[in-house]
Amino acid sequence: MFKSAMSVLRFKRFEKNSAQRRLNKAANIDDLRTISKRRLPSGVFDYIDGAAEDERTLKQNVSSFGNYHFKPRVLRDVSNVDSSTRILGNSVPLPLIFSPTGFTRIAHPDGELAVSRSATNMGIPFALSTLATRSIEEVGQATKAIVGESSHKPRNWFQVYVWKDRALLKDLLLRAKDSEFEAIVITVDTAVLGRRERDIRRGFTLPPKLGLGTVLDGIIHPAWTWGFLTNDPIRFANVVGKSDEDGSTAITLADHVNAQFDQSLSWKDIEWFRANWEGKIVLKGIQTVADAQIAIEHEIDAIALSNHGGRQLDDAPSPLDLVEPVANAIGSQAEIYCDGGIRRGSDIVKAICLGANACMVGRPFLYGLGTAGEKGVDWVLEFFKDGMHRTMSLLGAKTFNDLTPELLEHNDNKFLS
Ligand code: FNR
Repeated sequence: MFKSAMSVLRFKRFEKNSAQRRLNKAANIDDLRTISKRRLPSGVFDYIDGAAEDERTLKQNVSSFGNYHFKPRVLRDVSNVDSSTRILGNSVPLPLIFSPTGFTRIAHPDGELAVSRSATNMGIPFALSTLATRSIEEVGQATKAIVGESSHKPRNWFQVYVWKDRALLKDLLLRAKDSEFEAIVITVDTAVLGRRERDIRRGFTLPPKLGLGTVLDGIIHPAWTWGFLTNDPIRFANVVGKSDEDGSTAITLADHVNAQFDQSLSWKDIEWFRANWEGKIVLKGIQTVADAQIAIEHEIDAIALSNHGGRQLDDAPSPLDLVEPVANAIGSQAEIYCDGGIRRGSDIVKAICLGANACMVGRPFLYGLGTAGEKGVDWVLEFFKDGMHRTMSLLGAKTFNDLTPELLEHNDNKFLS
């Protein structure tokens, strides 16, 4: 007993030191992707990294940022650059939100607790997925517990997939309120699950099913396998004991979504949310100007322009391309978030210049988590903050309000004014 406790401690110390060594070798998010690809079993990495069908939307989400170039201004005294702004009425040091990701403990045993703590330490919002592997209460407590250490109040949001079982959904909303979650994020792009062909090829299930392939994959990724085997089993933590599908038996995500979520969801259901949730409401998955305008008619507080990181409808529009037309159509009637493809601080700057209030990221923090646990997520946040400050300095923009469309030009407009 004593011996095995010692070997766990030794392993944890070794892991901590090697996590730092891995981070020292990373220069950007793509490097974290490469390192996490090496460390995670291939089925797990593909679940995180993959997207729908030919993955064109995934690629375009990222490449769309390259379609704009900057028009930097010089000699503007950038000795004190300040990227802070407000999101849903509260201040943030940079305009960034952690997007909801299901099954986060698959990347690292500390999963959602690490990601929410890291967000709280930085002072930005974290959205907990309906399909999270830590519960509303666990995240509420973990983030409250560090408030003494960090000067920030937790800003947890709860992402909602709309269950057919409305009593279960109502209960989740009450629990989010009791744990002082600030907002709900209703994901509206997942009537059915997109066809994620990497997962289909691998027969990927949640949690991963043990078979010859997974056992071999586990053997060649010992650190991940050790973490998986020595921590509590991965479950859909918010519905353990409340739904017959709580993740305790291996299922495909498509089967789960199709069985549990309400495909008849429509705009009239927003009324139901208003009646059952007093806080702010974010709609995630808006992909046209027309739907952004309908969201305004329903008095939604914020719109996340998002195609689910390319995981739903392939050939959906890139969030960045929607920012300017949506901002022109709705003005300041709701906040606008650009969700998908952000890999650098300069990407955040571009989205803000075009009219977004903030950006959201998913895979970047999962790559950080897979590389080095919570330290990896902290690294990602510092990387974005540092990149945003550097870009603002080089653009001659001192504050968030200086980030205007005049600093940016689409590559199609060849002549600089
Ligand atoms: C997601 N995303 C997602 N969205 C959501 O509303 N609920 C969820 O449970 C999940 N789960 C999930 C798991 C994984 C592994 C990924 C990569 C993504 C989508 C996510 O919130 C966000 O929209 C995208 O990740 C944004 O794109 P980037 O930042 O990954 O490029």
